[in-house]
Amino acid sequence: MKRSLPIGIFDSGIGGLSVYKQIKKVLPNEDIIYFGDTARAPYGPRNPWQIREFVNQMLSFFDRCNIKIAVSACNTITVLGLEDFQKNHDFKIIGMSTGAQQAIAASVNKRIGVIGTEVTIRSGMHHKNLLALRPESKVYAQTCPKFAPLIEQGKLTGIEIQDAIDEYLTPLKKEKIDTLLLACTHYPYISGFIKEFMGDQVKVIDPAEETANQIRNALSNAGILNDNGKLGIGRLYFSGQAQQIRRIAGNIMDTSKCLFLERNLEG
Ligand code: SIN
Repeated sequence: MKRSLPIGIFDSGIGGLSVYKQIKKVLPNEDIIYFGDTARAPYGPRNPWQIREFVNQMLSFFDRCNIKIAVSACNTITVLGLEDFQKNHDFKIIGMSTGAQQAIAASVNKRIGVIGTEVTIRSGMHHKNLLALRPESKVYAQTCPKFAPLIEQGKLTGIEIQDAIDEYLTPLKKEKIDTLLLACTHYPYISGFIKEFMGDQVKVIDPAEETANQIRNALSNAGILNDNGKLGIGRLYFSGQAQQIRRIAGNIMDTSKCLFLERNLEG
């Protein structure tokens, strides 16, 4: 039966595990297959055509796994547009929510910061969505090219990440933003330091929760929500270094019920 099929979640690497965690919270009975392309992460500095080729490989893997819905737990992939991918697959593909509604609701002084990869910030998607909801907002977008590579390497503490936080967030602090939107699923790994740096007056928004609610609604509307009362299982595939990733993932989620596996998508 379709409702018992797994959900597929894909990302350039380990960032999507922050979304996995939220989906697990909202949909505990669902089985999940995760694919993180860690061998080729980060995607942020890559050409869109190359990212598309890699995404096609991950979605072909999901075709073979027989999933019921796919989630792009990566803003860099989502902002490229998912429509073209959708044409070639039977399952629905859902992208990251921009978190714009949450950010607008949170901001009092209407000065909002957005941080993400080069591809995400260049797309202007978050900026546009925020202004569409409240045109008088001031949006300050900042690329953070060092964050995702450091997080992928497991460098979640130390001088390198602190220096990068200082470099990228100081300009936003100067603009007196009161809300900061995390437009990259890797950033929740360092959200403690981001909050500390920005101070209590700045609300940090992670769109993963909103995305998880969208998945639940999509499954419910299609009549394929798994509510069998049993705890679902997680099979987590990575194109490289699965066991090292288990250690890094332990910083943001309970990995005890997950299988960490390695799978090469090339050749
Ligand atoms: C990256 O691979 O560069 C980060 C992906 C993201 O936008 O979440």
